Amino acid sequence: MALLEGNLVQSKPLLGKVALVTGASRGIGLNVARELSRYGAITVVNFNSSADKAEELAAELSRDHVEASAIQADVSKSEDVYRLTQEILDRYERVDIVVNNAGITRDSRFLSMSLEQWNEVLHTNLTGIFHITQNLLPSMIEHNYGRIINISSIIAQTGGFGQVNYSAAKAGILGLTKSLALETVKYNITVNTVCPGFILTDMVAAVPEKVQEKIKSKIPMGRFGTPQEVANVVRFLAVDGDYITGQCINVNGGLYM
Ligand SMILES: NC(=O)c1ccc[n+]([C@@H]2O[C@H](COP(=O)([O-])OP(=O)(O)OC[C@H]3O[C@@H](n4cnc5c(N)ncnc54)[C@H](OP(=O)(O)O)[C@@H]3O)[C@@H](O)[C@H]2O)c1
Repeated sequence: MALLEGNLVQSKPLLGKVALVTGASRGIGLNVARELSRYGAITVVNFNSSADKAEELAAELSRDHVEASAIQADVSKSEDVYRLTQEILDRYERVDIVVNNAGITRDSRFLSMSLEQWNEVLHTNLTGIFHITQNLLPSMIEHNYGRIINISSIIAQTGGFGQVNYSAAKAGILGLTKSLALETVKYNITVNTVCPGFILTDMVAAVPEKVQEKIKSKIPMGRFGTPQEVANVVRFLAVDGDYITGQCINVNGGLYM
């Protein structure tokens, strides 16, 4: 019996943990939710508009791994996030792992960028993390445990043509991560960032094919990354990252070193 339990803990080291993944209906977030669930975490699949995909994923995770649920919330709206986080705490009484993944692009050259394009990206990609984390941190402090993993981007490090809004938001995440890591370290809460390079999701598929080929030719590994390759690093931080905090882990095929 003890041997069986030991094996279960080894194969599902996140058993008993509760994870929230924002923007988990598609792309990187979907793969992260699947990975955390596969490792045993009760997983909350947050989505904004893709209800069917999120419900489908939650049903798959509950069937194949551990209980999961899909909850709608626009992370840029404080009232939505309050509802989301209260629902999680009412249902599961704690949150151990938060993956702040939800993100959008609204590309435009700076001089033609509207304030709306600027605000939409900043409010979703950066302020969304503020809302989510501020609502869930007290519960993590109470349990003296937390793993906060923010998804930034290589564009935070290199800049991106037509992406002043996106790179500002993603670079903001790097600063937020380091400062919050300092404030939370005494509660056994780690805060880290993962910086993906170019990963095959809807976000990259939206880039014109010619531009995609140009980008690919500059990647030392000669290919785009897969969402699973990002999910593997997030899972590593959640499962084995006990002595890692305030860091940015690059998953970019060598494009930025
Ligand atoms: N793909 C890349 O090459 C790449 C590279 C570097 C960084 N990243 C970052 O990785 C993250 C995921 O990117 P991805 O490529 O997987 O994107 P994606 O395929 O476009 O999926 C975006 C996800 O975010 C959700 N979302 C968007 N706005 C939201 C909001 N206001 N509230 C809640 N959820 C929201 C979407 O939900 P709905 O479908 O329900 O609206 C969807 O699940 C983003 O932060 C992105 O900036 C991606």
